[in-house]
Amino acid sequence: MTHTDPNEHFWPETLAPATAPDLQIPQGACLIDGKVEPCTLVIIGASGDLTARKIIPALYNLDLQGGLADPFLIVGCARTPLQDEAFREKMRTAIRASGPLDESRWPAFSSRLRYQPLEYQDQSSFEELAKFLRGLEKGPGSKGNRIFYLAIPPTLYKTAAQMLGQAGLSPEGSDGKGWCRIVVEKPFGRDLETAVDLDRSLHAYFKEHQIFRIDHYLAKETVQNILMFRFANAIFEPVWNRRYIDYVSITAAESLGVEHRAGYYEEAGVLRDMFQNHMMQLLALTAMEPPSLFEAERVLDEKAKSYWSLRPFPLGDLWKTLVLGQYGAGAIQGKRVPAYRDEPGVAPDSLTPTFALMKVFLDNWRWQGVPFFLTSGKRLADKVTRITIQFKEVPHSMFRQVLGEHISANRLVLCIYPDEKITLTFQTKNPGAKVCLRTVTMDFQYHQNYSGPVLEAYEKVLLDVMLGDHLLFWREDGVERCWSFLTPILRQCEACGERAEMLLPYEAGTWGPRAARELHPDYLLDLKS
Ligand code: BG6
Repeated sequence: MTHTDPNEHFWPETLAPATAPDLQIPQGACLIDGKVEPCTLVIIGASGDLTARKIIPALYNLDLQGGLADPFLIVGCARTPLQDEAFREKMRTAIRASGPLDESRWPAFSSRLRYQPLEYQDQSSFEELAKFLRGLEKGPGSKGNRIFYLAIPPTLYKTAAQMLGQAGLSPEGSDGKGWCRIVVEKPFGRDLETAVDLDRSLHAYFKEHQIFRIDHYLAKETVQNILMFRFANAIFEPVWNRRYIDYVSITAAESLGVEHRAGYYEEAGVLRDMFQNHMMQLLALTAMEPPSLFEAERVLDEKAKSYWSLRPFPLGDLWKTLVLGQYGAGAIQGKRVPAYRDEPGVAPDSLTPTFALMKVFLDNWRWQGVPFFLTSGKRLADKVTRITIQFKEVPHSMFRQVLGEHISANRLVLCIYPDEKITLTFQTKNPGAKVCLRTVTMDFQYHQNYSGPVLEAYEKVLLDVMLGDHLLFWREDGVERCWSFLTPILRQCEACGERAEMLLPYEAGTWGPRAARELHPDYLLDLKS
């Protein structure tokens, strides 16, 4: 008689639970799909930082991953006259500065690059561009599809859109062929009025479906994951509301200072730079209702509804729900750094905030009474981006009297940076004879068991523009709703008599002004645990 392992039937080899089998990702899954059509991408502002640091390296990486169609041409436009070859050389240097360059793949990518000089305020220069594009589109395989990427200072957006329109570069083919899209970077206006005005200028020549307003946070893997996590699991949604959640904290702390962007930042400050866009997107993804389909318009509808629910800020009592700060000199990782006011290009008496903590409420059934703490700041001790869902304590603790212990409430943390993970903290019995509880954390590392390619934020954004998918972009109504919420706060902050007094100094390399901890007592806990 042969010996039979009694466990054989219960643990056949294929299910052997050696490591977590549920984490295996099928080979070849999650790569680029969707039909990328041939097109010409025109970068207006091709001599700038954004083109060199983000756009061109992202296009190059997409090409390596098979994400560009054929033909796919990239036309760089800027004021400086350049030959194609000189432009290619500059772009080669830019790619090298951002990562490795595969020499064997460079010739194919470089053959996609063209250059056309462009005077941003000169209509005849745009007419020349139109002629140049018509010439290019006579090439084999061209479908006449175009993307215009505005990589220029925001003050030029209106003019560029108008000039493109007047040069006949905005209409799309009536038969659905020859589409035309325009990509606009943040900041999208500097208050409600300017945002509405910019929308009006864009809409004079481009329809809403042609406009792609970028927010690079939306293209981060861990940010995209928020909706999956919430709505592809049955167990979180039932507790995702005021009955179970004590507060939500959304933090985007940075250790970098203003860098070389004082000209822009002095005008913007942290509220325009981070809150009007990234923080509001994280808020909407955390707070929105489930859309009926995972499809752009329905997702954007639900986001817009959550912005509609934002409770207007108590302007008369601003400082009870808002902390503003500005960094002074200090040390980041042992290195001395100057105060904001001593940064190049910053006014010595600048009143621009570099830190804000804001307590907001959403007036709807799901969130009534639950505070959302939004925090962002520069020159803080570390770069940390995360969303903390702090649950309520158990309604009645039968252990408290027996064990005499404080029972920490559950906490779910969606870590976006530097760790890309999700952690859930809960209570268990401590092993051993004595009955006592301990708080433990279960964690899921986002890239666990995945070694395939990952799209960097700008790669994802560019791919979605080519595919015509608006899901990860701002829609006009969302932008305007958020400005309606923030504009009165900005006005009040900028006009009030206590402006200087309420801008609290903090030492670079710390976690911001002490008042942050008064407004949100768990502020430090949310950053670290
Ligand atoms: C940008 C802001 O939109 O986002 C910067 O203008 C900020 O000031 C940056 O530093 C942060 O992005 P990330 O991806 O580094 O968190």
